[in-house]
Amino acid sequence: MSKLWGGRFTENTDSSVYDFNASVSFDKRMYRQDITGSIVHAKMLGRCGIIPKEDSSAIVAGLEGILADIESGRLAIDETMEDIHSFVESELTARIGDAGKKLHTGRSRNDQVALDIKLFTRDYIDTLDVKLKDLLNTLLVIIEDNIETFMPGFTHMQKAQPVTLAHHMGAYFEMFKRDRSRLFDIRKRMNLCPLGSGALAGTTYPLDREFVAKELGFDGATFNSMDSVSDRDHIVELLSALSTIMMHLSRFSEEIIIWNSNEYRFVEISDAYSTGSSIMPQKKNPDIAELVRGKTGRVYGALMSMLTTLKGIPLAYNKDMQEDKEPFFDAADTVLNCVILFNGMLSTITFNKKVMEESAKNGFTNATDVADYLVLKNIPFRDAHRIVGELVLLCIDKGCALDDLSLDEFRSYSPVIGDDIYEAISMKTCVMKRCTQGAPGPEAMKKVICEYKKYLS
Ligand code: ARG
Repeated sequence: MSKLWGGRFTENTDSSVYDFNASVSFDKRMYRQDITGSIVHAKMLGRCGIIPKEDSSAIVAGLEGILADIESGRLAIDETMEDIHSFVESELTARIGDAGKKLHTGRSRNDQVALDIKLFTRDYIDTLDVKLKDLLNTLLVIIEDNIETFMPGFTHMQKAQPVTLAHHMGAYFEMFKRDRSRLFDIRKRMNLCPLGSGALAGTTYPLDREFVAKELGFDGATFNSMDSVSDRDHIVELLSALSTIMMHLSRFSEEIIIWNSNEYRFVEISDAYSTGSSIMPQKKNPDIAELVRGKTGRVYGALMSMLTTLKGIPLAYNKDMQEDKEPFFDAADTVLNCVILFNGMLSTITFNKKVMEESAKNGFTNATDVADYLVLKNIPFRDAHRIVGELVLLCIDKGCALDDLSLDEFRSYSPVIGDDIYEAISMKTCVMKRCTQGAPGPEAMKKVICEYKKYLS
């Protein structure tokens, strides 16, 4: 239990208190960010003449060795230390002697941990963004292959109007595109370096904060030291963006689950992404989609937890803030995994195009188009709506589709109907005619696909 702060104490910390207070078990995963920040801090201390150049070089070399040894597995992080910061500093001093004790000059763990978590957030956003882009590429393949794959579009879970599979997938493309732009915004807004803020009130040493910020890839240094050590807004924002990603994935999962059901059979999930039942030999379950849907709750929970942790904290740093990490890390891991797994499932799924098209043909998805046909023949839309409603009742009675009615039957409801009605209300026409921007018609979809390709390249 070697501590960074023993001097002022005469009695030992109670061991239960030590354990309760310690964070190494979870903040150890920020070792790379912690060491990277320390290397730049030490370089700066040397350049500014705050510590001797030789000490600065020894610290940098020592830290580089520690980082290499952790990454290669030669050095295990000692979990009896209080936190990752204490571990790195004590390991450094064990390796290079007294020079190691100069690393913490002009720094506090408060600005150090604020830096670590910002670096972690940034790295995470970059990793997640690549996986979201993979998912968008999978969607684009499906979209390009299916601009004439007809399927029913639904409102209220009732068949509404025919769309295409490309169009349906395009809706998710838009959602994940917005998710990426949210991550980008967060990354931009948080990208100021807190190191140099000290415990809360800056420092008396002539630190070169701009140098540190630049070396670490920040756009500059933060402007208020009290805010810098107490700000976790970027975690709140990120958890909110992650919650939105999960909400999108969960809605998509729900659709896959419904489409995979015996009743729909719109899709067949690949064996590699399904599981069986221990008792019912016939079962092939969509567990991945269900788990993604299920894990959404814990990500929302992390957002609530972070907001609640922060709401009562007076300025500046308080130990409550240590509670930022576990829910954040859990949510971050969960979302990354869900995006990867979902992408794997989606890229190997089979769409039963015939079943989808058959399904679009029944359910009166062309009823609006019959009304639009009547409007073209100068019937006011409200009257056309009533006439088609009556035709639908007739079809329900006869157990057939609108396309199956004879011309005489059509004309007995409205004499303006001619034999061009069949062409006008065929599913193909219904979709083809919808060609304004954003509509499912293949011509409109082709233009959108060009935009998507530009966006992804
Ligand atoms: N482990 C702390 C955290 O995660 C960082 C250390 C700051 N501790 C302190 N006593 N000032 O927030």
